[in-house]
Amino acid sequence: MKHNNDTITSTLIEDRRFAPPKAFAARAHLRDPAAAKALRESAAADPEAYWRQAAREELRWSKPFTQGLDWSNAPHAKWFADGELNVSDNCLDRHCEGGRVHKAALIWEGEPLDGNEPEVRTLTYGQLRAQVQKAAQVLQRLGVQVGDRVAIYMPLIPEAAIAMLACARIGAVHSVIFGGFSAESLRDRIQDAGAKLVITADGGWRRGQALRLKDVVDEALGHGTHGVQNVLVVQRTREDIAMQPGRDHWWHEHMEAAKAVGKPVAVPAEHPLFILYTSGTTGKPKGILHTTGGYLTHVTRTFKQVFDIRDDDLYWCTADVGWITGHSYVVYGPLAAGATVFLYEGAPAFPDKNRFWDIIERHRISIFYTAPTALRTFMSWGEAPILKHDLTSLRLLGTVGEPINPAAWVWYHEVIGGGRCPIVDTWWQTETGGILIAPLPGVQECVPGTATLPLPGVLPEIVGPDGEAQPANAGGLLVLKHPWPGMARTIWGDDERFKETYFSRVPGIYFTGDGARRDADGNFWIMGRVDDVLNVSGHRIGTMEVESALVSHPLVAEAAVVGRPDAVTGQALVAFVTLTAGTAQNPELAEALRHHVAHEIGALARPAEVRFAAALPKTRSGKIMRRLLRELAGQGTVSGDTSTLEDFGVLEALRASED
Ligand code: WT7
Repeated sequence: MKHNNDTITSTLIEDRRFAPPKAFAARAHLRDPAAAKALRESAAADPEAYWRQAAREELRWSKPFTQGLDWSNAPHAKWFADGELNVSDNCLDRHCEGGRVHKAALIWEGEPLDGNEPEVRTLTYGQLRAQVQKAAQVLQRLGVQVGDRVAIYMPLIPEAAIAMLACARIGAVHSVIFGGFSAESLRDRIQDAGAKLVITADGGWRRGQALRLKDVVDEALGHGTHGVQNVLVVQRTREDIAMQPGRDHWWHEHMEAAKAVGKPVAVPAEHPLFILYTSGTTGKPKGILHTTGGYLTHVTRTFKQVFDIRDDDLYWCTADVGWITGHSYVVYGPLAAGATVFLYEGAPAFPDKNRFWDIIERHRISIFYTAPTALRTFMSWGEAPILKHDLTSLRLLGTVGEPINPAAWVWYHEVIGGGRCPIVDTWWQTETGGILIAPLPGVQECVPGTATLPLPGVLPEIVGPDGEAQPANAGGLLVLKHPWPGMARTIWGDDERFKETYFSRVPGIYFTGDGARRDADGNFWIMGRVDDVLNVSGHRIGTMEVESALVSHPLVAEAAVVGRPDAVTGQALVAFVTLTAGTAQNPELAEALRHHVAHEIGALARPAEVRFAAALPKTRSGKIMRRLLRELAGQGTVSGDTSTLEDFGVLEALRASED
């Protein structure tokens, strides 16, 4: 049987419901639907009480809290503010003391195949703690103190997680920057956060190539220091790199000199844990700030609920640690829950299209969590590589990052999951810290195309443009009226922007930026962003950022960037560009501009298409009419099932009027 976007149309499967498979439900933690319903109801009646209990049940507190939610300084939530704890204590020490010291915490596989054998490293909870203790000492010796910021620019190797946990152990605040970002983007983020130290690697492996990360750090820091006093360099690819005396240090040399001793530093629950930059509607990325106790409560509780984790699971989330998914559901949630996390450094098609399925088969992965974009790519490769492998170890599948079209959902369920595995479609954002809407597998039906119901203690709503409640099935803005523990606390260094971005569209209420509808069963169907933020391959890209990059090119006069539906990447970037007087339009220049954006921001922001125009369509007041450009960009290029990717009619109505 062949599955592709055309053979299974969304109309055929729209109404299909997938009850928890019997074998799954029989072993699930949550198997009583009535109990789950009661839990949701009691949590909705008193969310604060629900989260207080979660914080006590899920975490070890050095000083117990007496306060729950403090919303007196809204929109700045405080959770468990008089309590104290340490994240690395919760992710490591308590498991070491509680019977998991010899349990694998991380199982990592590198990309290169030496002969046929990949390099595999396993770190038990005890070994991981020892590494983190040493790294914490290294940071302290290099002058990092409580509250200092540390930038992390790394490939996906265990040291990335070790670096994050080491920061948490001493109360330093990390800012992880995805290894695909350019020197320019890296410099902006280092400066904005005021990072004192950078942790990087000589490089990492991707598609058989060594990505030279240290070179990018050197370019970002240039001749100045931008406040950075030290750079720690992990050896990975062993390519030749430049080391600047006094500033640059080899990680392994410092680690050898350190000892695996030292206690975690207890910090107040509202102490900053990390800053993570994400794109918004203006040109400058926002440093989303997450703090300690509420965040860890949220990611630990939701990780257990949504992934139904058991001690014998091997859990693989394919996200890079550079994204929020990597923070919350590769590192912090799973380790706080005492799970075994699988990490893979490289690309899915290296050395060929068998790699992912080979990994699942060899390691006996039981839970697999990835993005719809990846699934649509796998679909386009055909089933042969998958059918060659034994994937029967899988018992639960997840998706995140963008709406999943029903055809891809059903393909995931049938071809990868062999019809045995529930699929958890998890809706959340960098700002929400953790998952807010997702099925509870074991007790709940899964429905292709919807993340289904809010998790206990989470109260999303659909409202109209003026904040009025919407009836079932009417499209509207997705908002949250009640605070939740994982919510962002502010935008680093720009609190006004925090209030303006999230709490002004509907005054006083958190606005997600997404449009959605809720059906008669209460399921949330996410329709996509209603602001000028695009979602390309599950990555959030601000149109203004790409426009700024384009106009920084000397031959560009004006630029407008819009999204068009794409059968694989969800949305694709289309740039409309006018050139400076006398500049000739040609395909080479279009290519050069695409390259320019990749160089300025990173390859993930490279437009799929650059179109030249004599002028951009504008309103009388001079605003670019993006609606027209969106239609133009989308026309005639839509192929395959994009039914849930964007509901243009409704989205257009929700977008601020432009003309
Ligand atoms: C935006 C957040 C959450 C981690 C990855 C992305 C979209 C995310 C879903 C989903 C439909 C989704 C939304 C959201 N999104 N998950 N399951 N169904 N849309 O984090 O970069 O902060 O982006 O991704 O539009 O607002 P992010």
